[in-house]
Amino acid sequence: MFVVLLGLPGAGKGTQAARLKKDLGLAHVTTGDLFRQNIAAETELGRKAKPYYDAGELVPNDLTIGMLLERIHQPDCASGCMFDGYPRNMEQTVALDQALAAAGKQIDRVVYVEVAEDELVRRLSGRWLCPRCAAIYHDLSAPPAKAGVCDKCGSELTQRSDDKPDIVRNRLKVNIENMQSLLDHYAGQDKLTTVDGGRDPEAVAADLRKALEG
Ligand code: AP5
Ligand code: MG
Ligand code: ZN
Repeated sequence: MFVVLLGLPGAGKGTQAARLKKDLGLAHVTTGDLFRQNIAAETELGRKAKPYYDAGELVPNDLTIGMLLERIHQPDCASGCMFDGYPRNMEQTVALDQALAAAGKQIDRVVYVEVAEDELVRRLSGRWLCPRCAAIYHDLSAPPAKAGVCDKCGSELTQRSDDKPDIVRNRLKVNIENMQSLLDHYAGQDKLTTVDGGRDPEAVAADLRKALEG
């Protein structure tokens, strides 16, 4: 099964994908994490992506699509995966559809995790991330057992450089501008379910599982 998780910055895509990976065994394909890894490792791709990432802009399609296609050809995606943070515009959408079609596959389901803008800002300002295993925490809604330390691997937690208020505003603007065309595309294919993402993570996860199983 190939699933797209759509949602604005802070909607809980990463949080929910980590749960689904555990529950359903679906590989998690997240372009944001791939860019962060490349930027941290100072690869050529990371150096090219960094100015866009730092400004909260979309990384150009040629870089993003190339990275995504390489990722989905890895063995863990052979029978399915969950896309988090991809696609973000129509060119990316078409590239993914074509790549899957070439292998006799397709996107099976798309879930839009809908959250109000003021709640998104609250979530991003309290987020902490493990730089080693990418586990996601929040000061209030998902605190680690010991402040500042990853429950899973013991690394020191950090805040994302693009979670600063002015960058968050730009990320929201860029993603809001592009979201409707994605929703229209997948609704037109009768693949789209919208889930109320403004509730606690367990309630959102239950609706997501229902949408994927139904
Ligand atoms: P990316 O890393 O994908 O960032 P994003 O889309 O802005 O989304 P986030 O990761 O911020 O939010 P999320 O929905 O995963 O929320 P999370 O689960 O962490 O992309 C970063 C950058 O990379 C982009 O700006 C761009 O530059 C580049 N990029 C990536 N993909 C690209 C593409 N396809 N094309 C071009 N450029 C691309 O949750 C947020 C917080 O809320 C956490 O603290 C969490 O604990 C908490 N939380 C989660 N769920 C709940 C809940 N139900 N209730 C209360 N709190 C919750
Ligand atoms: Mg994320
Ligand atoms: Zn960790």
